[in-house]
Amino acid sequence: MRTERFNRRVAWVREPGGTDVHEIRAETLPPLTHDAVLVRVEAVGLNHVETLVRRGTYAVKIPCPYAAGIEGSGVVIDRGPDADLEPGTRVAWTAVFGCCATVVIAPASRLARLPDGLDFEAGASLSHAGMTAAGLARHWPLAAGATVVVWGAAGGVGQVLTALLESRGVRVIGIASGERVAAVRAAGAACAVDRTRENVLQAVRDQTNGRGVAAVFDPVGSATYRTSLGLLAPRGCLVNYGQLSGSLPDVDLEDVMEAGSVFVTKYGPKAGVVGQHEIGSLVAETLQVVAARSLPVPIAGRFPLEQVAEAYRALEAVPPGKILILPNQPVG
Ligand SMILES: NC(=O)c1ccc[n+]([C@@H]2O[C@H](COP(=O)([O-])OP(=O)(O)OC[C@H]3O[C@@H](n4cnc5c(N)ncnc54)[C@H](OP(=O)(O)O)[C@@H]3O)[C@@H](O)[C@H]2O)c1
Repeated sequence: MRTERFNRRVAWVREPGGTDVHEIRAETLPPLTHDAVLVRVEAVGLNHVETLVRRGTYAVKIPCPYAAGIEGSGVVIDRGPDADLEPGTRVAWTAVFGCCATVVIAPASRLARLPDGLDFEAGASLSHAGMTAAGLARHWPLAAGATVVVWGAAGGVGQVLTALLESRGVRVIGIASGERVAAVRAAGAACAVDRTRENVLQAVRDQTNGRGVAAVFDPVGSATYRTSLGLLAPRGCLVNYGQLSGSLPDVDLEDVMEAGSVFVTKYGPKAGVVGQHEIGSLVAETLQVVAARSLPVPIAGRFPLEQVAEAYRALEAVPPGKILILPNQPVG
């Protein structure tokens, strides 16, 4: 067993609430054992779910106080006796709790090697999306040749989901707003619809000879729910995975029948389609798909660790790109 101990600065959530409940603490980490590795954190990617958890409004509760951060990227600097990642390896991750810090300890199996074509900012932007996209793609079985709609296809999850489905032969109609349709095409979508200028229902009907699609992936919620039902082919499936526009309406079975006896599901961690042990490998797989497509990774803001509250405030404005914390960068 290694006995060396490491110090770090880390963002903590003191109590449930708004962004002002964050504070920076100094702490000493335990020694590295088994397959644990110590990673110097180059970038932390912020996710909407962290806001819900911090406010105490999410199904998954984390008792306060807790160390913030779930997604990031960095370089392995030391390892426990059973870890198979060499110091110097560039890695990215999600579900590494408490990674909003200068260094973090994680099991090697939870980390994905960062492909050559991706930098640290891309790794910290795409890993959580990669795990989510991999889970969504498993949640509703889709044969090669099926056609689906992806809302928010220029967004974090939407872009990776589009690339992943297309790599498996699924035809994606991606929806985005304005100039962001270019990112939808870059992700590999067969067709990009600009929701600010086009009638989404009509555009999807035109693309499917009036039949509709096998599945709709929707992170928006109330604002798109009815349209999403209307986009489905008979017995298709609406897979909601977020509520960016507010809480979801109650499901009315009459509506479901009228839409073609469709299925409606809300995807989340409790779906059980992604095992804890495979998170690292699933992230690695999706990062490879994304690297092969050279996707643009829009960054909406970069913050030093000391400005953690400002960073999470920027996230709440739903910016058109990723908010990053760069824990080892000096305050600028
Ligand atoms: N269930 C899970 O396991 C899981 C995991 C990860 C994320 N999520 C959730 O998934 C959602 C998306 O996350 P993300 O990181 O991809 O967010 P994001 O990068 O902000 O992308 C979301 C996209 O949705 C589109 N959008 C926003 N409001 C809309 C509206 N009213 N109508 C139509 N489109 C709208 C926007 O694209 P355009 O303006 O270009 O259309 C935006 O880019 C969040 O709610 C997050 O909490 C869930």
